[in-house]
Amino acid sequence: MENIARQQISINLEVMDMLNQQIAKEQHSSSVYLAMASWCDQRGLERSASFFYRQSVEEREHMMKIFAFINNSGGSAYSPDVTNIAHEYASLKEVFELALQQEISVTQSIYKIVAKCRKVNDFGTENFLQWFVEEQMEEEQSIRDILDMFDLMGDAPLKLIDERIPKE
Ligand code: FEO
Repeated sequence: MENIARQQISINLEVMDMLNQQIAKEQHSSSVYLAMASWCDQRGLERSASFFYRQSVEEREHMMKIFAFINNSGGSAYSPDVTNIAHEYASLKEVFELALQQEISVTQSIYKIVAKCRKVNDFGTENFLQWFVEEQMEEEQSIRDILDMFDLMGDAPLKLIDERIPKE
């Protein structure tokens, strides 16, 4: 029966497997950002902590968007295991550099799924993923702007840098 149900779903099966891997990546991002928020919070870097608490919630929302899309299309979404979350960082700048790497990796992963959708004519999923393509561009840009600010402020006290982290 399970195989018949899978044959009737509107998502290409290989694409669905990639979407399930993406669910795990989004949940991993959420947990990474939660750890970063905690590191910042413990050091009184309030704006940075708020930034990463917000990011953590957003990544969980991304995960849930894909989760719902798979199940609403007749597929099977899987709740991911989350492992290997670092809790120590060398500096606040390193935290943001790692966050940018995380986002670049997620963007590349989304692009791979879009490319697969085109190859197998899964236009529904490609259309669904357009929101993620735009979201990734915005997220990368916001972290790049913060890293530019680090460069501009040079050796300024961390508190002063933290006060310039965007509120929204
Ligand atoms: Fe949902 Fe920014 O990765």
